[in-house]
Amino acid sequence: MLALIAGSASQQLAEEIAAGLDIELVGRDVERFPDGEIHVRLHQELRDADTYIVQSTGPPAQEHLTELLLLADAAHRAGAGRITAVVPYVSYARQDRRTALGEPVGLRVVADVLRASPIERLVVVDPHTPALESIMGLPVATTTAVPLLAEALPLHADTDAVLIAPDLGAAKLVDRYASALDLDVAIIRKTRVTGAEVTARSVVGEVEGRRPIIVDDMISTAGTIESAADALHTAGAVEPIVVAATHALLVGPAVERLERLPLEMVVTTDSVAVPQTHLPIESVSLAGRLGEVVGRLHEGRPLDGLSSHQ
Ligand code: R5P
Repeated sequence: MLALIAGSASQQLAEEIAAGLDIELVGRDVERFPDGEIHVRLHQELRDADTYIVQSTGPPAQEHLTELLLLADAAHRAGAGRITAVVPYVSYARQDRRTALGEPVGLRVVADVLRASPIERLVVVDPHTPALESIMGLPVATTTAVPLLAEALPLHADTDAVLIAPDLGAAKLVDRYASALDLDVAIIRKTRVTGAEVTARSVVGEVEGRRPIIVDDMISTAGTIESAADALHTAGAVEPIVVAATHALLVGPAVERLERLPLEMVVTTDSVAVPQTHLPIESVSLAGRLGEVVGRLHEGRPLDGLSSHQ
């Protein structure tokens, strides 16, 4: 038996995955005790079911992570068989190494906690770091939204488009878009000043007179996109610009920053719930792809064509 549980961060996505698989979600309550503790309760026994919990760990990251752990424990105690966490957006993935003395390796701490839970396997989408699987120490099925996002990009026949990696970390990602779209690539050299401030130092590649499509794994405060847009403007790129990112967290000053930009469109996914804004955001659903991944994992079939390792 296949069982699917929705965490509150991914309710709608889980409903769509369940509909695609033609199953009902496991009933559950998620509530809060007056002191702030999260309390979850499943409505049924799971009787050895192959169980999938869909829960992104976007903002508030700590709460959604804790809720995932509680749901996994509840599923285990309700008799679940193998438990897989479907975590489209994995928080703490940017803390995959120490960049200064005195820091922790945040992703390793999250990995230790997940490994201590009944979760046996993860499904993730375009994680920030390829080191995620080795740091997790659990089997990780990694899928990608790049083909879905590439298909949704507005391309104009009258202007020469160029794909932009807004920092060196996005170089491999931009290459995957370039293969899908057969477009040229330019890379921006970025320096992070603080968690919310970055500066773009220079553009490497030909962008003058071309329409830029900035691609990244995630938009958090949009500082990276803002500084990339400034650098592209200075380098003579055509406006408005297009942005594609798998995970649109849009926290802190992100919406204001994006509102100030000459933006044609932001293409993203429903890996996290995108806040309501007047921005031109097109969200592509991951439900079909994740449903296919869950279905194949359940049946023990290979993830050919869905895994980002191919
Ligand atoms: C960083 O390496 C990531 O790929 C993103 O570029 C970054 O995390 C986005 O953050 P923000 O939107 O706050 O600049």
